[in-house]
Amino acid sequence: MSEKYNKFIMHIKECAEFLKEKIEDDHSFRIITHHDADGLSSGSIIFKALIREGAQCTIRCVKQLDRDFLNEIKNDKHDVIIFTDLGSGAVEELEKMDKEIIILDHHIPKNFSRKFYFVNPHLYGIDGAREISASGIAYLTAKFLSKENVDLVTLAVTGAIGDMQDRNDLNGINRIILEEGIKNGFIKAEKDIKLYGRETRPIFKAIEYTTDPFFPELSGNEEACIKFLNMLDIPLKSGDKWRTLSDLTKEEKKRLATALMLKLIEHGYPTKIAESIVGEVYTFIREEKGSPLRDSKEFATLLNACGKNAYYSVGIAVCLGDRGEYYKRALRILAEHRAYINSCYKWILENKERIKSLKSIYFLNAGREIREEIIGTVASMVLSTTLRDKPIVAVAESKDNKIKVSARGTKELVEKGLHLGKAMILASEAIGGEGGGHDIAAGALIEKNMLDRFINYVDEIIWRQLNAGN
Ligand code: C5P
Ligand code: C5P
Repeated sequence: MSEKYNKFIMHIKECAEFLKEKIEDDHSFRIITHHDADGLSSGSIIFKALIREGAQCTIRCVKQLDRDFLNEIKNDKHDVIIFTDLGSGAVEELEKMDKEIIILDHHIPKNFSRKFYFVNPHLYGIDGAREISASGIAYLTAKFLSKENVDLVTLAVTGAIGDMQDRNDLNGINRIILEEGIKNGFIKAEKDIKLYGRETRPIFKAIEYTTDPFFPELSGNEEACIKFLNMLDIPLKSGDKWRTLSDLTKEEKKRLATALMLKLIEHGYPTKIAESIVGEVYTFIREEKGSPLRDSKEFATLLNACGKNAYYSVGIAVCLGDRGEYYKRALRILAEHRAYINSCYKWILENKERIKSLKSIYFLNAGREIREEIIGTVASMVLSTTLRDKPIVAVAESKDNKIKVSARGTKELVEKGLHLGKAMILASEAIGGEGGGHDIAAGALIEKNMLDRFINYVDEIIWRQLNAGN
């Protein structure tokens, strides 16, 4: 294992030892976590690990750590506060609090702290957008608390997948975690077509709903997907049951993969993107066949559905192992979430003229048409419908008259110097907002009347990032 991984893991070990001491001293713990799949997974991993040690512990989910929430924490009565999947942007404010704090996060840090345990891969030169997510950090911490926690490995993988760290299969520390999960009989990794809903969706629906990449003529068009499969001689049904991707024979999968790649190449997509439709997929083999929890990507979407619609306790209950009442509720929430995402998707296809091409970004102001919680997902979908020559910055109005910003880029743009996280931090600091994230995906929350200035700043900063060498 490389030196930087060793050092990072040693830091995690020290943090786990500190936690152990606090547990032995009968301290109480409050976990504060992010509302998406990586947040729910990482928070649940630490929660379960602490409960297993007999600790007193509560967990709370938030959309983001804004000033109001930071003020609220000042009065929190728990002895130790653990932040998972957030906190890196608020180190300065947290240092001012008279509290025992632990941060297990993978976002770009604004500052560094010697005052408390601040576990962040970026501080060790490890890429927190690709090599490990918050769930991976939480899992390694939990394992140092007890070997029993190896069963939480599927959550560690789900968090990384939820944050799309598997674009080129899982790598870095994620790979080490994955291999442990395979060795211990929790996970199977195999090459397959990366369509959405391998285990649960009729194959034509899986093509229709896949947006990364966006299949021209097929994505969002059920009829065209059915025709496409008929043309390829792939039966849609077996008896009276719809066939899913996992039901297809090897031969059928080969035919389908080739046809999908050709479709992308015909429409001018680079070969690299076309080839990326085949990659590693991860199956949680102890989950029931046909359950969305069996496929890592679908598990992550189920958690995103719960978190982004504020059904936090449902998502956490499923992470903690509930497969009864809460799981059934999660399935209903997932169905509604999918229907909403699908309607957003149709809206994008019908309103493409609202995507404005600025100097160095595409800009979409969705106003109140798209809910703020979903604008990140929408930004990713929009990116897959553009030429991918510039990043997309999408905004939606939030309930409190603010603007939620979500930005998404591509690996190629990042290689040219794009860093959306830094752009969001700089631009939001300039206008009194809050922002952060990763190089490839970032976000911000700003005042409504600052939108034009903010977008101009972002456009300018990104222009400089992409033209620094020229
Ligand atoms: O807060 P957080 O890190 O969880 O946000 C993750 C979001 O960033 C995901 O929704 C995903 O769309 C995006 N992301 C990405 N590619 C990466 C890392 C994150 O698209 N490599
Ligand atoms: O909300 P969205 O999915 O667009 O967030 C993308 C990334 O930006 C996430 O990692 C999220 O945690 C981060 N972000 C942030 N500060 C904000 C909004 C988003 O650090 N105000």
